[in-house]
Amino acid sequence: MSDPQPVYLSDYQPPAYRVTHTELTFDLDPANTLVTARLHIERRATADADTPLILDGEQLTLRSLSIDGTPLAENVYQVGDEGLRIERVPACFVLDSEVVLAPEDNTALEGLYQSNGMFCTQCEAEGFRRITFYPDRPDVMSTFTVTVIGDRRREPILLANGNPVEQGERPDGRHYAIWEDPHPKPCYLFALVAGDLHKVEDHFTTQSGRDVTLQLWVEEENLQKTDHAMGSLKRAMAWDEQVYGREYDLDLFMIVAVNDFNMGAMENKGLNIFNSAAVLAHPDTATDAAFQTVEGIVAHEYFHNWSGNRVTCRDWFQLSLKEGFTVFRDQCFSAETNSAPVKRIQDVSFFRTAQFAEDAGPTAHPVRPDHYIEITNFYTLTIYEKGAEIVRMLRNLVGWDAFRQGADRYFERFDGQAVTIEDFVDCMAEASGLDLSQFMRWYDQAGTPEIDAHGEYDYAHGEYHLTLRQRTPATPGQVDKQPLHIPVAMGLVGTKSGQDLRLTLDGEKLGKDAVIHLREDEQTFVFTDVAEAPVPSLLRHFSAPVKLHFPYSREDLAFLLTQDSDGFNRWDAGQGLAMLALDDLIAAHRNGVEKVMDGRVVDAFRALLASEPADKAVLAEMLTLPSEAYIAEQQPIVDVDAIHAAREFVRQSLAMALRDEFMATFEANRSSEPYAPTPEQIAQRSLKNVALSYLMSIEDEQGVALCEGQFAANHNMTDVRHALTLLVHSDRDDLATPALKTFGEKWAHDPLVMDQWFTIQVSRPQADVLERVKYLMAHPAFSLKNPNRVRALIGAFAQNRVNFHRLDGEGYALLADVVIELNRLNPEIAARLITPLTRWQRFDETRQDLMRSQLERIQREPLSSNVYEVVEKALA
Ligand code: ARG
Ligand code: ZN
Repeated sequence: MSDPQPVYLSDYQPPAYRVTHTELTFDLDPANTLVTARLHIERRATADADTPLILDGEQLTLRSLSIDGTPLAENVYQVGDEGLRIERVPACFVLDSEVVLAPEDNTALEGLYQSNGMFCTQCEAEGFRRITFYPDRPDVMSTFTVTVIGDRRREPILLANGNPVEQGERPDGRHYAIWEDPHPKPCYLFALVAGDLHKVEDHFTTQSGRDVTLQLWVEEENLQKTDHAMGSLKRAMAWDEQVYGREYDLDLFMIVAVNDFNMGAMENKGLNIFNSAAVLAHPDTATDAAFQTVEGIVAHEYFHNWSGNRVTCRDWFQLSLKEGFTVFRDQCFSAETNSAPVKRIQDVSFFRTAQFAEDAGPTAHPVRPDHYIEITNFYTLTIYEKGAEIVRMLRNLVGWDAFRQGADRYFERFDGQAVTIEDFVDCMAEASGLDLSQFMRWYDQAGTPEIDAHGEYDYAHGEYHLTLRQRTPATPGQVDKQPLHIPVAMGLVGTKSGQDLRLTLDGEKLGKDAVIHLREDEQTFVFTDVAEAPVPSLLRHFSAPVKLHFPYSREDLAFLLTQDSDGFNRWDAGQGLAMLALDDLIAAHRNGVEKVMDGRVVDAFRALLASEPADKAVLAEMLTLPSEAYIAEQQPIVDVDAIHAAREFVRQSLAMALRDEFMATFEANRSSEPYAPTPEQIAQRSLKNVALSYLMSIEDEQGVALCEGQFAANHNMTDVRHALTLLVHSDRDDLATPALKTFGEKWAHDPLVMDQWFTIQVSRPQADVLERVKYLMAHPAFSLKNPNRVRALIGAFAQNRVNFHRLDGEGYALLADVVIELNRLNPEIAARLITPLTRWQRFDETRQDLMRSQLERIQREPLSSNVYEVVEKALA
């Protein structure tokens, strides 16, 4: 077999044939589903009459094929691994085909498959070609009529996109339902669900007064977990009307929960399909974080109805057109329904840990890639989150009003079309009058730009000189980088007054909080009329996705931590202060020198704990140390053990020095109120639980008792899970073992809670974790076929830095074993699981060799294109 070949953006050609209408019939059966397709096809005026018709198709058994009712002789078409080719076709015709598939054998979870006996589909990006022969590309948009035939007992509910138009009984005793979707759509938005499902129903009245029926379809035992998703959906629908003027366009909107799903959820027109973890939530089974995830993903998929469905992507290189914009939209929505500063802090700290790592590794790619082997590998943090940061910069550059006008223009001009990122940015440029040509480089240049900044106060002239120098490191296949247009939001905080000073730049008064534009490799900004020596507050609210280096002293950071008017930068200054202390301790650990705690960090934390917080959720974030993964990102060579030891030392030193303060914070924030996922309650719980974590880090006796009590009180999953995690991650196995047992028995019937049970056990720092992973892989509740379970056990283990990176290489070997097995079952999940191994260049030589040798072991296997592409890049 030849190696999989890349597809290039520069090779894009518009389709030669359009499908104007698609009629599908599914006669469902686990082993033998018959799919009958009738495609109404037209050659485009610009295409030559002798252009062959090429349809995508994979793993399909063709039963019959005819054009305009005439069966095709076998010598006029060819069927290969990738599809069907018919040499000569009329300019306008009807193509009928019948294919057979086996959903029960589909472990890749792409196309039509079964989950818990239920039939469901996942077609984005290229899954529809596993359902029928079709031009499986987003720039072919068609209306659909779908007939689903099933067994009345096994599949009482038969769903597809759009509106239900007919249902009934067939002579053979089976039943059917017919669905019509009037909106032309690409086939990646096709969906079908059939099974024993139960619904909750609600209604939404749109701004123009239309009634929309909302249905959430779940397995019967999950009916009591649907309130939060339904509430979130209604809030999202109202938000999109208020903020973007976008109304829903069908009379019915359905969400279905399935247990086996490769990612979070999918925005199929009128019939969103969700990973059950991304839609089900109940106070007894889901944490605050899970409630927030559900709200965000429900909104995300709903928002796609405009940013993705009504206006879609011309080709998959444009994926960020819909994903970056939609993530930006869901981030803004969540910021408004929760604590806005905390939402930004959490998004940015995740971004700087995980996306920066991706951008610095061998799979780095631009937000609009120029080639790929397997598009499924490109559902990445770069496409989604960096894409959202770019849209956020646009919003900040042009201002909200112009941004909204640009969005209106985009939706109106391109409604019903498949378009490109330029089309979107052009609308923003037109609406604002700004020249965004240099800005476009953000889409085509991979890697994280770094800004080296330094500043000087000129006492004699009352001037502040700020010099910014940008460079973007080389990434695979992209050595030369051009300077980007980087908006830097900033202020100058007076060291005497503690206030933001008025900014005057080149004679122009900018107010106290300004955005300066870095466009050149190096620029010096001279601020005049600066009355006192300032500390600059740079890149406020993370105004651009860059690494900024400014030589702040600890005094500067301690000052900004309390004085900066930007809440995000106050938090960031605290993180910076902790990072300086951590750096010293990492060095001390490596050099075998005694570790000494930096008193300034202790003082800063003491002051924070004594303050009357405006937002407890922000305070909880400020009291949380940078994660080991984030610290690792800041080191030239990652020393997992030193990082762990240093971080633990800081945690324990803080806990010892401020034991009473943490205890008081814990006590002050306990509550017996009935659980609600409100911002106020979430904030209070997170502050209380941060305090408990510190107390448990030193196994404070009273703290341990409080932790046990919190577990036993069983008030809500947030508190129970937190307490259980702290017990399991402490050395008190005498308490942890029975608690795990109680929890595991109590929740054995609930897969989403059992996922948490698996994760908690394999994320502890103790050295017995590898054995535990192996033991749990043999647990009857473990299955490689369920992606959530694989992520909960194997994925979580690979995030356990000290244990995954064991020096005997056993952690790497275990991961490679799983990847090799999953490569056959579910290539998408297998390819994703490899990620930690691809980062080998960041470690010491011993670990590099161990990691590389596991990648080479994987490479010797017969590989799916997914795994092949990732391993090739990792070893290139
Ligand atoms: N469009 C979906 C979303 O917004 C994700 C689809 C991912 N597809 C995949 N094969 N991983 O989140
Ligand atoms: Zn999306």
